[in-house]
Amino acid sequence: MAADESDALVFFGATGDLAFRKIYPALQALIKRHRFDKPIIGVSRSAANVDALRERARESLEANGGVDPEAFHKLASLLQYVRGDYEDPSTYAALRAALGDAKHPLYYLAIPPESFATVASGLAASGCNSGARVVVEKPFGRDLESARALNHTLHRCFQEPAIFRIDHYLGKEPVQNLLYFRFSNTFLEPIWNRTHVRSVQVTMAEKIGVEGRGRFYDEVGAIRDVVQNHLLELVALLTMEEPTDNHPDALRDEKLRAFRAMRPLASNDIVRGQFRGYRDEKGVAPNSTVETFAAVRLCLDSNRWRGVPFYIRAGKRLPVSVTEVLVQLDRPGNFVRFRLSPDVIVSIGATAKAPGEAMVGEHVELIARQGEGDAMSPYERLLGDALRGDPMLFVREDEVETAWTVVEPVLDNATPIYEYEPETWGPPEADAIAPLTSV
Ligand code: BG6
Repeated sequence: MAADESDALVFFGATGDLAFRKIYPALQALIKRHRFDKPIIGVSRSAANVDALRERARESLEANGGVDPEAFHKLASLLQYVRGDYEDPSTYAALRAALGDAKHPLYYLAIPPESFATVASGLAASGCNSGARVVVEKPFGRDLESARALNHTLHRCFQEPAIFRIDHYLGKEPVQNLLYFRFSNTFLEPIWNRTHVRSVQVTMAEKIGVEGRGRFYDEVGAIRDVVQNHLLELVALLTMEEPTDNHPDALRDEKLRAFRAMRPLASNDIVRGQFRGYRDEKGVAPNSTVETFAAVRLCLDSNRWRGVPFYIRAGKRLPVSVTEVLVQLDRPGNFVRFRLSPDVIVSIGATAKAPGEAMVGEHVELIARQGEGDAMSPYERLLGDALRGDPMLFVREDEVETAWTVVEPVLDNATPIYEYEPETWGPPEADAIAPLTSV
């Protein structure tokens, strides 16, 4: 698809947590690889001036991967600052002036979801939306209705091809490899179905807790934070049919079909947990019933996957940090493992003869690939794609809404919340839903 390259990058939330952890490092990396050298405009309320913002950028880099003197120098020289309230029309007038003759700015909304609509409307009212693209962070809405409302608001200001809904999991190298590996190896496709697959486990375990993000997290919880987006995306990539060609919508059409096949969760498909001590975190309500853990059993209504349970488990303050997919095949000891982080492994579980006189076997794991190579960070990758106008790895309107329909019945307090001890695998009740054999 021929698209105009963006000629300015504007990010709202320039002094916020996401900019600090992800955006400055991604910008420095893009500049270092000579992939962007246009004006970069930060918008926020709290930095005093552009020098304070440059200082913030430096601190962000020091804390997240290091300062590259040359690239940072360039970043600092490209950086401008617009200080203002998102509700205030004069903020957008100042932004319009700062954009100069840029015709295709990219706006990155690295701000809390409740401000998305305000900023989109401010951009449209000031004419800043013309010829522009917008990147919107997850979670996109907080349920189906609010996601639809947000799509509606965004569509008043931007056309769908100009809206880039980001899910950083799609920018991860090993996540893209799920798709690549599946369709590039003749030995996998014939067994990738209900005849040969017994179950699939998708685990996203985090040792960390909410790390100062209590206020955000308590509005969201594990289902909205990672299940509706990152983990259902993984399931879609694992279960979809092969895209017909390389067009961005060929992939997104197939993912959409996969989302549509996912049966909306019922209350007996999920166990929610909350780690002991969560309620004492700053920004968390003392009587919060928000989940920091979810174990989910998901079924797909498709010919290929009918009857195969997909066990999803995600949680904070678990014993280890690991994200992995384990596809158990019908015969014990046979599996395919995709470890996505912290290390990257694709492996096959097999049975081989144990050394000795007896004809007995032992389980072995054939590690097909390990290591990360010189992969870009997901944010660098996705920001680069958005600047070029390539939507392939972004989530389309119909995909995001369908993903909400899957989790909608179990949001909020639809099911009980069980406490679990930090550094355990969640509440024991979860074992009945999602047996843990993978990590
Ligand atoms: C984010 C969530 O989207 O993903 C965080 O908001 C979570 O709560 C993070 O910690 C995990 O990302 P990664 O790339 O470290 O697996």
